[in-house]
Amino acid sequence: MNKKVPHQHSDESQESRRDFLKTTSVLTAIAVTPPAVVKAAQSGFVEKVNAALETMPVSFTVNGVKQQLKLEPRATLLDVLREQLDLTGTKKGCDYGQCGACTVHVNGKRVLSCLSLAVMHEGQEITTIEGLAKGEELHPMQQAFIKHDGFQCGYCTPGQIMSAVACIHEGHAGSEADIREFMSGNICRCGAYPNIVKAIQEVKNGGLKS
Ligand code: FES
Ligand code: FES
Repeated sequence: MNKKVPHQHSDESQESRRDFLKTTSVLTAIAVTPPAVVKAAQSGFVEKVNAALETMPVSFTVNGVKQQLKLEPRATLLDVLREQLDLTGTKKGCDYGQCGACTVHVNGKRVLSCLSLAVMHEGQEITTIEGLAKGEELHPMQQAFIKHDGFQCGYCTPGQIMSAVACIHEGHAGSEADIREFMSGNICRCGAYPNIVKAIQEVKNGGLKS
């Protein structure tokens, strides 16, 4: 009597069975997802609702004006300055801590605002390029940049000026080499560096306090 041999699936037929099951599950999932949910996900609705629920109160002073804001904990200082306070003088270059275009002062020290969360600055004093001049009177560093032609396209200039002021306050403008080293985090693709160095030297020699 012939023994009945159990039916063996070939490797190939097992693979195509698995593929069939996978495809069927995906199609089923799509079919049972309500269209409203798909549409909401596509429009970022869920993120918007989460953002609205996840804000926290923060207050700090920007250019001498007290600000009380409700912020998403993950919002960077750069985005809050530009998008919520309309202070667009601070530039977004790389958004990655590499170019210095977003430099501002926090409690008198330079900070890369793209790398700093706004909620970390509760109670602190922030100065942006808009807050450097006294009314119509430009800051000496702004005047020196103009005099020495320290900008070309000008995109990096606000960050360069904020760093230049901090460079002197920090006591790092004693020599050209010092200035170059402590300004090296501010990238200028136009190559205005020699003029920027001259501007800093002039302001330093003119007596801006360390
Ligand atoms: S934008 Fe912040 S370092 Fe480039
Ligand atoms: S002046 Fe153009 S990037 Fe600096």
